[in-house]
Amino acid sequence: MLHKIALRGIRRGISLTAMNNGKTSKKVCCKREKECFLSQISARDFICFFIRTFAALTIEEMSIPTIRTTEDGSHTLFASELGECYHSTHGAIQESQHIFIEAGLRSCPNPKIEIVELGFGTGLNALLSLIEAEKSGRNIRYTSLEAYPISQEMAATLNFCKILQTPQDLQDHFKSMHSCPWDKETAITPHFSLKKIRCDFREGIRLVGSFDLCFFDAFSPEKQPELWTEAIFSDLFHIANKAAQLTTYCAKGSVRRAMQAAGFEVERLPGPPGKREMLRARKSMHENT
Ligand SMILES: C[S@@+](CC[C@H](N)C(=O)[O-])C[C@H]1O[C@@H](n2cnc3c(N)ncnc32)[C@H](O)[C@@H]1O
Repeated sequence: MLHKIALRGIRRGISLTAMNNGKTSKKVCCKREKECFLSQISARDFICFFIRTFAALTIEEMSIPTIRTTEDGSHTLFASELGECYHSTHGAIQESQHIFIEAGLRSCPNPKIEIVELGFGTGLNALLSLIEAEKSGRNIRYTSLEAYPISQEMAATLNFCKILQTPQDLQDHFKSMHSCPWDKETAITPHFSLKKIRCDFREGIRLVGSFDLCFFDAFSPEKQPELWTEAIFSDLFHIANKAAQLTTYCAKGSVRRAMQAAGFEVERLPGPPGKREMLRARKSMHENT
């Protein structure tokens, strides 16, 4: 039984760290190697892996979020466990456009951009990025990490395309974003590809090769303090390309300091309606890592 649950952990891509000769710890990533390791590792390592898997599977059973309408007319979702919405109640589209498209995508000059997002959720940031890619002709490779995906049925009821008055083909693209397979890069349009990785952020960052732009869109640090740490920002810093940027709606001093401690240069920018400030972090052009 325990072994069966641990095998589900392997399928979910949960990382396994095992002691190597009792000295250094070895991170095992590949599925086949993990399966082989499970039968050989110590009881202590097995239990650690089991607990991580069990936690992930329990969260998977979080209740289904409910749809709410924000002040600009666009939908958001409300996660009752956390008592928090996926977006600003002052306007979901307005917030995403301001933080991730205007302060993020439009300030990134590269003709080809690799984006990594923490939290696919409703797919709103991905949709706005696709619209931007189509308008500008720039190529975007979009990788999004998500532990608790919403159903395709729920995605179909979201009104983003209606509010944005997008043509039918964009509505089809939004549908494809939700229906495309997990853990596989899919070309949604010639300018935009999407890879959704089903994982916990803390495990998933190592599955992302590099990025030019990061949309840091976890729930708030009050609700998920474990995701706004120096350790997470350090993991991101190490895979960030030179001059890469990270934007987030959060402007808390402790988050800014965690980003700085990880190596980023951080600036405060005016926030979207209802929010005084937001943060944009940058990896220096001259960074030697
Ligand atoms: C604030 S919502 C933002 C969602 C998305 N960017 C959007 O526009 O709808 C945070 C998202 O992070 C996901 N999430 C929360 N904790 C996570 C974790 N530890 N690992 C991966 N995803 C997580 C949630 O399921 C949710 O979809």
